Amino acid sequence: MQIFSTISETKAFLEQQKAEGKQIGFVPTMGALHEGHLTLMRQAKQENDLLVVSIFVNPIQFNNQEDLKKYPRDQKKDEALLETVDCDVLFAPSVEEMYPEPATRKYGFGPLEEVMEGAFRPGHFNGVAVVVHKLFDIVEPHRAYFGEKDFQQLAIIKKLVEREHIPVEIIGCPIVREPDGLAMSSRNIRLAPEYRKEAPFIYQTLQEAKRRREHLCAGPLRQMIINLFEAHEHFKLEYFDIVDDKELQPIQNWNNKKGTVACVAGWLGGVRLIDNIRII
Ligand code: PAJ
Repeated sequence: MQIFSTISETKAFLEQQKAEGKQIGFVPTMGALHEGHLTLMRQAKQENDLLVVSIFVNPIQFNNQEDLKKYPRDQKKDEALLETVDCDVLFAPSVEEMYPEPATRKYGFGPLEEVMEGAFRPGHFNGVAVVVHKLFDIVEPHRAYFGEKDFQQLAIIKKLVEREHIPVEIIGCPIVREPDGLAMSSRNIRLAPEYRKEAPFIYQTLQEAKRRREHLCAGPLRQMIINLFEAHEHFKLEYFDIVDDKELQPIQNWNNKKGTVACVAGWLGGVRLIDNIRII
């Protein structure tokens, strides 16, 4: 595996590979790698000649400085995991390398960034768009892989690529879960054991929402599920919304048969967790 920390080295190496006709699959990450990330990487490796991974804890997408400070970082451990998926190139730049000057670009994704994560984390998606756009410029991948775990992020990236005419195929990958149902996340290791034990409650409640869809309209179902989340002793709900899978706007009824997702975010033992489930 080649490990680069500068943009110029990365570009030079990849340009040579592309000149040889190699197809590039790219998985951008913030490190603290787990099986969720590795699953994306295995797919990227399988569908391309070269697997490129980036590790960069992007400061401008954190709206909470405490969260940024506490974000787990262990590059040596990550490198060992990358070897297990036969990664070809790791790009792990410093903040100075990525942002020699403060980023000023404002994309504006309209209603898509005004709901859910966008509403609770102002500026977050602009920060994601800035860094992903920059990474696409550096790597120029043929295909880039993103998890449905961050469902709204995936929708934002698709919109970014469409709007900026970036020549890359965006591939969404299913959520990878722990055996007890908790969606894998780099933040899970910050859950104290007593909260980790309670965390599967989130996915169980999402599954309950899916089951109840047969018998309830979207509005009453949403309220019923909110009540379940709010009744939990330790889980502090931020939002639970039932939305369409393109614009992520709340739906009122089940008319539009396919493409409905229920999304949740909240806090458990001081850790912010998100999850979602396809309802239809
Ligand atoms: P990060 O949280 O490290 O996630 C990197 C990629 O892994 C994202 O596409 C995310 O959706 C995916 N992923 C994480 N957990 C997953 C799981 N349990 N199942 C499936 N996929 C999962 O998302 C980011 O980093 C950043 O915002 C980034 C896109 C790198 C921009 O900074």
